[in-house]
Amino acid sequence: MRRFGLLQYPEKESLSKKIFNQYFKLSSINAKYDDIVIEPRKFDTKVTEYLESYDGLNVTVPFKEDIIKFISPVEDAREINAVNCIYQNKGYNTDWKGFYNSLLDTDLKLPILLVGAGGASKAIIYGLYKLGIKHLILVNRTIEKANKLKDFFKTKMEIIVEPFENLKDALKRSKTFINATSIGMFGESFNFSNEDLSNLHLIYDIVYNFTSLQEQALENNIKLIDGKTFWYYQAVENLKIWGIYDEVKFYETFVNSKFN
Ligand code: ATR
Repeated sequence: MRRFGLLQYPEKESLSKKIFNQYFKLSSINAKYDDIVIEPRKFDTKVTEYLESYDGLNVTVPFKEDIIKFISPVEDAREINAVNCIYQNKGYNTDWKGFYNSLLDTDLKLPILLVGAGGASKAIIYGLYKLGIKHLILVNRTIEKANKLKDFFKTKMEIIVEPFENLKDALKRSKTFINATSIGMFGESFNFSNEDLSNLHLIYDIVYNFTSLQEQALENNIKLIDGKTFWYYQAVENLKIWGIYDEVKFYETFVNSKFN
């Protein structure tokens, strides 16, 4: 049996475990996908064990940077300094590629406002850069983290950082809104009014569950790309890297699981 898994901390049942295992079953692939929890202080001693015993791995917070010294990152993963997929000792970043692919058929309207400055935002900014976007408004609760990202991408894009208090104001001026924070994951809400969203053509919300922001997008007829779709596109890239991608069967698995 082939073994795949997700390196994570703390323990959280992943969408990857749920959907990849359903996919293996539907496609008669003899494989299993595990959630693997490693305590951060034990990461350096434990990780090699998993790199040896698993056929393919995903990596999530807080290990996407720590993993790099144990594998060989491909060029884009090195450039972003984050790896979320491993195969045969090579490290890939499928987050940016998934984000990029999810927007290939979308006419992105400017200005674009991104909220959040964590690991996901880094992959998203790189994806936007690859889509040819040259300007971005970036808002984050902790402004220092937004400034760090601005600096990180300074040769690739002009990023205007605005404080969190300006979020609604920036939103009113934007046509595309990307939420890369965890707001909505535990029931929190941005508390935007419909008026605040009236200029928008697209809301991209990376949170996996159905958030009030996503509900508002649908109510206001604003095109919505949700977190499960974001997950799907990066998952496709993982399966391709691991050499076990069947387009029809994976799409079928995803659609069946999306509403369950
Ligand atoms: P990920 O890898 O998914 O990006 P992360 O690195 O933990 O995860 O980043 C989480 C993001 O959500 C951060 O931008 C965080 O803001 P801070 O940088 O200020 O911590 C943002 N976030 C989480 N909860 C939030 C909240 N209640 N209000 C505003 N921003 C929040």
